[in-house]
Amino acid sequence: MTVITDKFGRPLQDLRISVTDRCNFRCTYCMPKEIFGKDYAFLPRKHLLSNDEIVRLAKAFVSLGVNKIRLTGGEPLLRRDLPELIADLSAINGLEDIALTTNASLLPNKAEAIKAAGLKRINVSLDALDNELFQAINDSGVSTDRVLKGIDKALEVGLEVKVNMVVKKGMNENQIVPMAKFFKDKGVTLRYIEFMDVGTTNGWDYSKVVSKKEIVDMLSAHFEIEPVDPDYLGEVAKRYRYKGTDTEVGFITSVSESFCSTCTRARIAADGKLYTCLFASSGFDLKELVRSESDDAGIRDTIADIWGKRVDRYSDERTEISAKNKKKIEMSYIGG
Ligand code: GTP
Ligand code: 5AD
Ligand code: SF4
Ligand code: SF4
Repeated sequence: MTVITDKFGRPLQDLRISVTDRCNFRCTYCMPKEIFGKDYAFLPRKHLLSNDEIVRLAKAFVSLGVNKIRLTGGEPLLRRDLPELIADLSAINGLEDIALTTNASLLPNKAEAIKAAGLKRINVSLDALDNELFQAINDSGVSTDRVLKGIDKALEVGLEVKVNMVVKKGMNENQIVPMAKFFKDKGVTLRYIEFMDVGTTNGWDYSKVVSKKEIVDMLSAHFEIEPVDPDYLGEVAKRYRYKGTDTEVGFITSVSESFCSTCTRARIAADGKLYTCLFASSGFDLKELVRSESDDAGIRDTIADIWGKRVDRYSDERTEISAKNKKKIEMSYIGG
């Protein structure tokens, strides 16, 4: 295994792979119906990477230092051959962690298959416990009950579960404390995510961000929490523990406390392009490369070359102007 570093000395350690651009939700801040409507042109199947192509690329990344892969979407469980992909990735030597980020709506039927394929853990997106509000946010008629059933099924089959809640001002601040109470009682880690300016269609501006500090203040009125040391350099969430328990709560603070200086993540979007930042404007066409290059070393050298030139630190430099005017890839392609 070769360790490669970018222009700021950051090693390549994590790979996030978006396995589909489709989602059965239309969260207003991610895939608003006005844009992702009935006529929206999703990628045709042949434009997605096949499982074999993903595995070949994954092996190249692992040989360059990647030890953690996260599968994302859109909604990754919509991909029919996902369990086979998980099984193939699990067999890669040197890969220590494979995880999945999902909206959980399909977990009641799919949790068993992904667990049997070798998956150990999932992160579930859930922005509200109040059903009416949740349905207004996901704009697709799926109930909280359905998601909670998905979470329970995942726990039942032995998957480790964390919950992600995007907090947006005027949308769901009133769910901050109820979500904490509910998942604390369940012993499940909840992470609050500051609303980010991903893509160009989610109507972001600073006034809609609820910062970690504001959330901690709200929680402190009800619970005693204490910080927990990071598990490894570059951990995305700032972790806390409810005092006297083993249950954690976390914060993903891309806006109020950026974490670019330790960012070790590469992303393959649903269209097969390699992005070295969530907020990148353009990516390198790995799909073209994997389909034309017969030599594995050629693929590895190309990735190493791209990483070696990397200077991304978007969240460190974010301004109202860059947030609003920079061309950025959409969340449904890049998967967060
Ligand atoms: P764990 O390995 O379980 O800690 O997962 P994770 O937090 O890395 O992944 P997840 O898919 O659950 O992402 C949670 C949130 O963190 C999402 O909103 C992601 O978009 C965001 N996120 C993950 N990596 C980065 C990053 O490198 N930069 C920024 N700005 N946000 C990130
Ligand atoms: N800001 C922050 N998080 C977001 N997510 C989707 N859009 C945004 C945004 N604009 C979250 C999803 C999911 C994770 C991959 O990213 O809810 O939990
Ligand atoms: Fe789908 Fe997740 Fe985006 Fe919601 S946030 S539309 S569940 S990909
Ligand atoms: Fe990494 Fe870009 Fe996120 Fe900074 S903004 S942590 S460089 S993905």
